[in-house]
Amino acid sequence: MTELPMDLRGRVAHGDKRGRVLGFPTANLNARASLAYGVYASQTRIAGTEKVWSSVTSYGTRPTFDGVDQRIETHILDFQGDIYGREIEVKLLAFIRPELRFESVDALIAAMQGDIEAARAINASGK
Ligand SMILES: Cc1cc2nc3c(=O)[nH]c(=O)nc-3n(C[C@H](O)[C@H](O)[C@H](O)COP(=O)(O)O)c2cc1C
Repeated sequence: MTELPMDLRGRVAHGDKRGRVLGFPTANLNARASLAYGVYASQTRIAGTEKVWSSVTSYGTRPTFDGVDQRIETHILDFQGDIYGREIEVKLLAFIRPELRFESVDALIAAMQGDIEAARAINASGK
């Protein structure tokens, strides 16, 4: 079982840019983790800045899109900006659900909306 909280640190790399199309842009982290595939409530800090952002982090292979490589992707809540190439620190707080293969993109989007609400609630309860 994965020990939480867990701190991850890495540089934001380019993904497939599908996240923007789905409506949930993600920062892809070029880090490795020993983690169960799934979705985690998290907090993210952009190195060199003070603010800690509520976030939601997905770890896995994106089976809905027949992905194969493992990715750590963080969607920072209520954040708009370009952080490609920046160092970020991600603290995983709690496991939300396992990664799933969805039958449709709409089903994935609905699940992501639920994940964001769960991450918001977990972040709020920890403050
Ligand atoms: C909160 C969250 C939950 C996700 N859950 C799943 C999932 O259950 N199954 C899946 O195949 N992909 C999941 N993903 C990954 C998305 O498929 C991925 O973010 C999207 O394909 C964009 O990838 P890109 O950054 O490489 O463009 C999740 C992503 C986020 C941010």
